[in-house]
Amino acid sequence: MISISGSHVLLLDWVTGRYVNRSLKRAIMFKEYLGNSSDVFSLIGAIATGAFAFKVTLGFVRFFTVHFLSGALGLSANLRKGGAWAVVTGCTDGIGKAYAEQLAARGLNIVLISRTLSKLEEMAKQVEEKFKVSTQIIATDFARSDIYDEIESKLATLDIGVLVNNVGTSYDHPEFFAEVDSPDFVRRMINMNCISVAKMTRIVLPKMVQKKAGFIINIGSSAGARPTPLLGLYSGTKAFVDYFSQSLQSEYSGSGVVIQSVRPYFVVSKLSKFRKPSVFVPSPTTFVKNALNTIGVQAVTTGYWAHSIQDMYISLIPIVFGKSFLMQARKRALKKKAANNKSE
Ligand SMILES: NC(=O)c1ccc[n+]([C@@H]2O[C@H](COP(=O)([O-])OP(=O)(O)OC[C@H]3O[C@@H](n4cnc5c(N)ncnc54)[C@H](OP(=O)(O)O)[C@@H]3O)[C@@H](O)[C@H]2O)c1
Repeated sequence: MISISGSHVLLLDWVTGRYVNRSLKRAIMFKEYLGNSSDVFSLIGAIATGAFAFKVTLGFVRFFTVHFLSGALGLSANLRKGGAWAVVTGCTDGIGKAYAEQLAARGLNIVLISRTLSKLEEMAKQVEEKFKVSTQIIATDFARSDIYDEIESKLATLDIGVLVNNVGTSYDHPEFFAEVDSPDFVRRMINMNCISVAKMTRIVLPKMVQKKAGFIINIGSSAGARPTPLLGLYSGTKAFVDYFSQSLQSEYSGSGVVIQSVRPYFVVSKLSKFRKPSVFVPSPTTFVKNALNTIGVQAVTTGYWAHSIQDMYISLIPIVFGKSFLMQARKRALKKKAANNKSE
């Protein structure tokens, strides 16, 4: 049991009195301090708001300049300065076909490299007739890794100014890595999405460096800009494309060679399974017309104005929401497959 005597109470009064006194003094000092420095806080607030507003305005100006004005203002690079020939991989369909056509429209001769000979022959004929340029074709399978000596020897005598590393493959539908139903898919995807980019770059880059001119356009994906669950290997291979491109861009800055990383969202194509164009899913031609205006202006680009808007808000969404979106897409794809199997 504790008993409190009169002297104890006096002592307690003295201690609490001193404590309260001291606390009061401190509170007054703090208030005075705050009062004096509130101007400083206001100033910091104003600077932060100003900096934010400046950053947002700059972002908008950059967005409009890159996507709407760069062509008209002549900011985009003149692709013909690199040399007389452009090489496009995976060029008989989708984005690659649009690059080949748009580059031919700018007066470049085109080396068309893709898998199916008949499609290549047909396309070469069309490009020559429509754009009055020369073409060469190389039929090859980028899923293999032993094809590059032959490609190199076929390109040896050409003055190559542009390389578009476009060929690529993705999942049939979003899927868990262990459940992808294709035993060879790891080798095929790495060969097509990564090895092709590095090997083709090794073939053309030395001469570009020598003549101090050239453009290498590497088609990555928005899926390579951030981790993408249920498309894990695709995301990883496209992150390779992006980092490889950005590293080389820095390595060769000032050399006259421009290396661009293009990270599109959905574009109408066989690979994307989107058939009808819309604002956010452009046709390959619309996409490439936009993307070519960004060359020499942006080292890393989505290529297309609506994709840049998508990129702004998707970068704010946590990965867990991305996963639930792709889980839904997987569910729909599996349902569709099951229905198709039933009707066969
Ligand atoms: N479409 C999109 O929404 C989207 C979005 C982001 C990134 N990308 C990227 O853009 C690139 C092009 O995609 P896309 O949608 O335009 O593809 P696509 O429409 O499916 O066209 C593929 C082209 O590549 C050729 N090809 C396919 N496999 C090949 C192989 N093993 N060897 C040689 N050529 C082969 C095809 O020729 P054959 O017909 O003869 O097979 C065709 O010319 C890819 O790297 C892709 O990852 C696309």
